[in-house]
Amino acid sequence: MESIGVRDSPVEARTESEDILEQRALTSTLNSLLVYGKAAHYNLTKPRLAALSRLPERHQELLTPFYTDHLAAIDRAIDINAEFLRLVARYGVNEFEAPQDLREWEGATSFQVDQTRSSVKQIYRDWSAEGATEREICYGRIIRALNKLYIPERRSQVRVLVPGAGLGRLAYDIACEGYVSQGNEFSYHMLILSNFLLNHTTSEQQFTIYPFLHSFSHVSTAANQLRAIRIPDKCPATFHTSTATNFSFTAGSFTDIYSKVQDEADRWDVITTVFFLDTAHNVLEYIDVIYQALKNSEGTGYWINFGPLLYHFEEEQNSSSISSAGMATDSPNGISIELPLDYLISTVEKCGFEFEILETGIKSTYAADERAMGNWVFDSVFWVARKK
Ligand SMILES: C[S@@+](CC[C@H](N)C(=O)[O-])C[C@H]1O[C@@H](n2cnc3c(N)ncnc32)[C@H](O)[C@@H]1O
Repeated sequence: MESIGVRDSPVEARTESEDILEQRALTSTLNSLLVYGKAAHYNLTKPRLAALSRLPERHQELLTPFYTDHLAAIDRAIDINAEFLRLVARYGVNEFEAPQDLREWEGATSFQVDQTRSSVKQIYRDWSAEGATEREICYGRIIRALNKLYIPERRSQVRVLVPGAGLGRLAYDIACEGYVSQGNEFSYHMLILSNFLLNHTTSEQQFTIYPFLHSFSHVSTAANQLRAIRIPDKCPATFHTSTATNFSFTAGSFTDIYSKVQDEADRWDVITTVFFLDTAHNVLEYIDVIYQALKNSEGTGYWINFGPLLYHFEEEQNSSSISSAGMATDSPNGISIELPLDYLISTVEKCGFEFEILETGIKSTYAADERAMGNWVFDSVFWVARKK
């Protein structure tokens, strides 16, 4: 079976020190998949058992055996998640060419272990039947907009790019609709996991994971926290033959890779961004790269966007220090430009786009547990903008 997963990005050769940094990022991510189980027992169940043992006897009696049984069940579910992640890591080692000798691996940071936990929830968002409601609001809207632009007979000629593709479901579903589709990601968590889900699952409902066990707040019932999810709800292996030629994935930063597109044939008919714009340090750079990577002939390039404005680097910016001379001392990487939506919209227009559809206030969630007692709900924006 031909692999439809990650292929190397067309960026220039890296220097030796960049290679070393890249290898560290890869191996520490793989490590964070391997240590998931140990870390989860250590951070989630162990401290709660320890806290229980410090309670007054009457309180311990009230909570026993319910609470201890619940924590034991969480421990068992952690083990099942851990087994799945170890399998993913094994494929990752081979396909991303990590050293086989674990002594050459970089240790995982607690940030990366956190990312592993949130990746498990993202698997639920992208690859489970339960995630379909959440996906429908964003991915569904995008696919409907695409299908309105292009009749089925034309779709095999239409090139669609999905930057910040996460675990690849939208890019994959776009390929299944008959378009030429390319996902792009720079996070090793996303690349390793999407490679596994896209290329190494063999049947629907093949694996069981427990995405909700990591959070002890907003839990309506113990059973909800321990809810098992079967993945994948749609198995790419069954679509391989038809999509192998029209689906690809690139690894690397969107701005690095797609700002270099020169030939018209390599430009994109559509670029679609979902929960992505606010990951920019400088959202204007994203807008420029999107503009530059879209087809040039007038009125043929479209940008379809959905998402909130939860600017990812706002906190970093807020915590940058000011020197005694009154100068901000953050590094260039620390910049964060956070345009309010009205300014963002007028900036997109100034950068050469015309809105054909512009909807605001669309209630949407991200990897949310719909049975939880509390969730973040975003008032997202959706647009279809034409490159003028
Ligand atoms: C909030 S997630 C959204 C993922 C997916 N679009 C979804 O809706 O589930 C944003 C994704 O963009 C990726 N990302 C952020 N900056 C990127 C860049 N410069 N190049 C490629 N991917 C990037 C992150 O790794 C992350 O997976």
